[in-house]
Amino acid sequence: MFIDSHCHLDFPDLAENLPRILANMVANQVSHALCVSVDLPDFPKVRALAEAHSNLFASVGVHPDYQDTPEPTVAELVKLADHPRVVAIGETGLDYFRLKGDLEWQRERFRTHIRAAREAGKPLIIHTREAAADTLRIMREEGAAEAGGVMHCFTESWEVAEQAMEMGLYISFSGIVTFKKALALKEVAKQVPLERMLIETDSPYLAPAPFRGKTNEPAWVKHVAEEIAHLRELSVEEIGKTTSINYFKLFSHASE
Ligand code: NI
Repeated sequence: MFIDSHCHLDFPDLAENLPRILANMVANQVSHALCVSVDLPDFPKVRALAEAHSNLFASVGVHPDYQDTPEPTVAELVKLADHPRVVAIGETGLDYFRLKGDLEWQRERFRTHIRAAREAGKPLIIHTREAAADTLRIMREEGAAEAGGVMHCFTESWEVAEQAMEMGLYISFSGIVTFKKALALKEVAKQVPLERMLIETDSPYLAPAPFRGKTNEPAWVKHVAEEIAHLRELSVEEIGKTTSINYFKLFSHASE
């Protein structure tokens, strides 16, 4: 009934406990999860998870926070994306919170990913932090709308959500929406049309409210759905069902 559209199951805290993590997904009706790549050296581990488990898929990309790592080329990303279990390009984007100084390399890396996504015909997974204006500008300049994608772990304003949706992107909410103080984000979660919404954990980070501070895992995406259901006065079943349909629409190379 639920799908975790963004997690990092190859990270040690989760990889070491994989059988338990997968069993917890089943117990919580979390049918699928997307394992998101953060750099090229670790990508084989992400791909291996998707090859070994029919309900896991993979993305390929280099995260904007990873500074000292091999820089991908468009051709390299397109080649790695040419695999039946790799359904998206990312995560990519801009992060002016974690890193400071001249971040032109980050913007160039983001452009590389958008070009690769267009060429590969696979959607983008976009991370943006304190860089919304530049993120949207580069998306427009590079024609990100043609590839489509998702603004993952969304924490920006309604105006940013609107502009991303105008380019055809989806908005994905993480456990942050369950935090008591995230009042502005709760308002955005009330407004985003259901047919443009995804849910995720970004595990092992950002455990939702009842487990805050613990190691997050895909099973807990259920709590994100429960919070959104509560905010919108809808059933959790409806949130689970709609976001699952959206997942397979966006990641059209993923099959049930
Ligand atoms: Ni992530």
